[in-house]
Amino acid sequence: MDKTDQPRGELVIQTLAMPKDTNRDGDIFGGWLVSQMDLGSAILAGKIAKGRVVTVAIDGMAFLNPVRVGDTVACYAWLEKIGRTSMKICVDVWVTRYRTGDSVKVTSGVFTYVALGPDGKPTPVKRD
Ligand SMILES: CC(C)(COP(=O)(O)OP(=O)(O)OC[C@H]1O[C@@H](n2cnc3c(N)ncnc32)[C@H](O)[C@@H]1OP(=O)(O)O)[C@@H](O)C(=O)NCCC(=O)NCCS
Repeated sequence: MDKTDQPRGELVIQTLAMPKDTNRDGDIFGGWLVSQMDLGSAILAGKIAKGRVVTVAIDGMAFLNPVRVGDTVACYAWLEKIGRTSMKICVDVWVTRYRTGDSVKVTSGVFTYVALGPDGKPTPVKRD
């Protein structure tokens, strides 16, 4: 693995792919992975917005390599763009393969969040 193949961004979630996350053929569901990415990037968006956020869009999803039962799954996220009330967060998912310990990038995507105020309406994101 050269330097360009290193995970980028902040580690926002780390978990284990379990048998319950598979389809009937024993492969990990893409939907399970997307849900981990949504959870992880929402943590970063909530930290930036310092409050409630909702997912408004998911773009550019690419499933590059399969995830297998027993793999350690790590989501890395970074802020790509900040708007008035929205934040575009890029997420890459890397796995550490069970038994071999190999590190492989499996998925990437872009999640857009909107900050909500107490009234449940979009509210400006306060920049630091
Ligand atoms: C998020 C939500 C409150 C936005 O409401 P809205 O009436 O579209 O609000 P606005 O038009 O003011 O848009 C708010 C921001 O979202 C952005 N936005 C809206 N739709 C978007 C889309 N499809 N893709 C990217 N950005 C989008 C706007 O550009 C704007 O960004 P900015 O303020 O940085 O310029 C509303 O769409 C909603 O409640 N959606 C459901 C969210 C949800 O339940 N998510 C979980 C899914 S299970």
